[in-house]
Amino acid sequence: MAERLTTVRLASPADAAALAELGSRTFRDAFEAENTPEDMALYLASSYGPELQSAELRNAAVVTLLAEAGSELAGYSQLREGSEPACVGGSRPIELWRFYVERAWQGQGVAQTLMEATLEAARARGADTVWLSVWERNQRAQAFYRKSGFLDRGEQPFILGHDRQTDRVMARPLAADRRFPGID
Ligand SMILES: CC(C)(COP(=O)(O)OP(=O)(O)OC[C@H]1O[C@@H](n2cnc3c(N)ncnc32)[C@H](O)[C@@H]1OP(=O)(O)O)[C@@H](O)C(=O)NCCC(=O)NCCS
Repeated sequence: MAERLTTVRLASPADAAALAELGSRTFRDAFEAENTPEDMALYLASSYGPELQSAELRNAAVVTLLAEAGSELAGYSQLREGSEPACVGGSRPIELWRFYVERAWQGQGVAQTLMEATLEAARARGADTVWLSVWERNQRAQAFYRKSGFLDRGEQPFILGHDRQTDRVMARPLAADRRFPGID
């Protein structure tokens, strides 16, 4: 049912504080059980905060989408233009940098609705491929990405605080057949 109630909108700089709070909380919920408090604290401090998210929301190379279920913020995604690992194919790839759904809204279709909107936004930016990097131990996310058409393409390191981890790199091609009004 949740997918019918879920709406996705482009975030604006006015969303910086809410996005910082959502980003920090969903990252902690997802990864604190399997990482040390020190590594988590270092990573959170360097990645989330109203000023950091304000800069991201003003960065023309970043697209941020917010999923709202009823009146609640239920998740967010961020696309980022930049460089990609050699294992990613396509001539115009874009990175799915962050993709997070609130724990209470997981397993209810919010992620699928947010992914559809995110892929539309990537198409609207002219990308022909979306790639992402996901912790090798994050089985649920990898299953979700496979369900969403992403294939494993290789690996790259990820630094969490002082811990050097291994991410799987996944990618999927985009068919340039649909648009997402209001994103481009
Ligand atoms: C990754 C995420 C967006 C997926 O959304 P979701 O609503 O949980 O997705 P789904 O419920 O469809 O689960 C995806 C698949 O994972 C598998 N799965 C479900 N629970 C699982 C679990 N506890 N462990 C491993 N796999 C699991 C299932 O195969 C499921 O597909 P199915 O329902 O068709 O069988 C969401 O779980 C999330 O935000 N997680 C925390 C943040 C995160 O890891 N983000 C990605 C960072 S790269």
